[in-house]
Amino acid sequence: MDKPEKAKITDAPQIHRLVNYFADKGMMLPRPLSEIYENIRDYFIVKDDKQILACASLHVIWADLAEIKSVAVAEDRQGQGIGDSIIKACLIEARDIDIPTVFCLTYQPGFFERFGFTQLDKMELPQKVWTECYRCPKFPNCDEIALIYHLEAD
Ligand SMILES: CC(C)(COP(=O)(O)OP(=O)(O)OC[C@H]1O[C@@H](n2cnc3c(N)ncnc32)[C@H](O)[C@@H]1OP(=O)(O)O)[C@@H](O)C(=O)NCCC(=O)NCCS
Repeated sequence: MDKPEKAKITDAPQIHRLVNYFADKGMMLPRPLSEIYENIRDYFIVKDDKQILACASLHVIWADLAEIKSVAVAEDRQGQGIGDSIIKACLIEARDIDIPTVFCLTYQPGFFERFGFTQLDKMELPQKVWTECYRCPKFPNCDEIALIYHLEAD
């Protein structure tokens, strides 16, 4: 299996297709291509030759907080440890840049709990987290589950 690597700008259309494939099924939030281009440096991908098999992004929110977003593994490549490796890549980068806390909003809490993430009330997250929510199709009825992970506790 190929290892997670940082995305290149030319990967954005395939990331867009992968994320929005699952978004159309209501499994995660959609992302416009423009947002993926703007935040391309946040993304890790796993590639098989030229085909993107998985993506995830680590987005810095504030001095002590980053969010893991847009985690997706192609349907026919799930269950092979790719999701695990891409989350670990995000956590390693968070640690490398001295971010002490990472959170996510997801419909798959069990997947994140495996890494040591714990659930918390969304309202406990700082207000800064909600700046992009007005663009979310679910706003203001967010039904995702918030989980948090403290890297400094490792
Ligand atoms: C959730 C997702 C990212 C998992 O990726 P994956 O590559 O299939 O996961 P892995 O093969 O790395 O699984 C690693 C472990 O997590 C477990 N796992 C996978 N999905 C899980 C889930 N939804 N809940 C609980 N555990 C899960 C696996 O059983 C495996 O456990 P094991 O090591 O004990 O065998 C993938 O199923 C996916 O892309 N789903 C559609 C999009 C989505 O729902 N994204 C959620 C994040 S916003």
